Amino acid sequence: MGPQRQMMDVVVRSTGRYVPERVFLNHEFESFLDTSDQWITERTGIKERHLAAPGESVSDMSLHAARQALERAGLGPEDIDLIVVATVTGDTVFPSTANWLQGKLGNTRGWSFDINAACSGFIYSLSTVTALLRSGQARRALLVGAEKMSAILDFTDRASCVLFGDAAAALVLEAVEPEQNGEGYGIGEFYLGSDGSLAEILYQPCGGSSSPPTFSSVQRHGHYVKMQGQDVYKNAVRRMDEVVDGVLKKQGVAPESVDWFIAHQANVRIIDSVRERMKLPAERFYVNIQRYGNTTSATIPLCLDELVCDGRLSAGQNLVLFTFGAGLTWGSAFLKWGVPAGLAPAPGDIAKRDISDNEEAAAGAPAAPVEVQR
Ligand code: ACO
Repeated sequence: MGPQRQMMDVVVRSTGRYVPERVFLNHEFESFLDTSDQWITERTGIKERHLAAPGESVSDMSLHAARQALERAGLGPEDIDLIVVATVTGDTVFPSTANWLQGKLGNTRGWSFDINAACSGFIYSLSTVTALLRSGQARRALLVGAEKMSAILDFTDRASCVLFGDAAAALVLEAVEPEQNGEGYGIGEFYLGSDGSLAEILYQPCGGSSSPPTFSSVQRHGHYVKMQGQDVYKNAVRRMDEVVDGVLKKQGVAPESVDWFIAHQANVRIIDSVRERMKLPAERFYVNIQRYGNTTSATIPLCLDELVCDGRLSAGQNLVLFTFGAGLTWGSAFLKWGVPAGLAPAPGDIAKRDISDNEEAAAGAPAAPVEVQR
């Protein structure tokens, strides 16, 4: 046995995000689907979503978000020793999108891999990265949640294609000695679960080894998202309640002491049902689904980055991040926002972290029109 290491604390050092330039409004679906802005808004809370350009890959989107997070932390690519991408729409089946991202970033000293847990991908990845940092297997990690859902949506299926969007968001996470973190900032408890017996209520049937691509699989739309919406909805409401209660109990914190509940953004009605059951004010639940739709692995870090950029997070605030997704999978994490003094980015850096950074990134992206009618 080697020497025993003390467990490290893990803090979020910075965030970044990227959303593609093209905004696709609800009413644009009306030209080729039997749907309406009113139906989509009332049933889901979504008003618009961003769609990647045809040549724009998940690693491209991740690169923008990652560079922004690194810059805000005052770090370069070589300061990172672990890169994890949460995605179900990776550039290629293999190698991982994290590998592609590593190459594009120019990082040579780290190791990189993807995690596929659908809409729970970010929380599962956060748990994995935290465990690796806590145990000393890496010191600084880049965690990206990124999706090009438009690549796997069936734009003839009104029940699913209106729900999703494309985006990437990144965190830089760092291990710190507990002695240097007197305030106890950083990642706390997790509550995670899954039920593989319900895999078929939300999945992409073809393209994997159980059903490799064929002419017929393409004709049958087998490479697109298939969803039994009502079953997913019922399970989501139940599990979202469970994960919030579960992580608060593990952490020993009362719901009233939580400053921000940041839910996976799948349907505003699912978030509202959790909030109503807990009898908590809407102001404590961050919701941005109206602008992005469900961006799967990207929703929670996207919310975090917006809160940071809007100056709405302050050191010492308690956050609960929670999710539910295909698999079925679910999970939550407790986070005490803040970084120990020696690591904190200068306040001026935070002020610069506004949407203009993102617009600059978007300007560099391919501007080809989005083709959604196949
Ligand atoms: N426009 C108009 N009508 C529609 C649309 C649409 N876009 N989509 C469905 N409908 C119709 C249905 O065909 C149905 O018509 P019918 O009564 O004539 O049969 C009617 O609306 C009602 O359909 P429901 O499925 O009962 O509608 P519901 O209120 O349940 O809303 C929705 C559907 C929004 C999909 C909801 O079930 C939901 O949000 N489910 C969860 C989805 C989710 O969270 N998915 C992501 C999980 S995360 C991941 O891992 C990827």
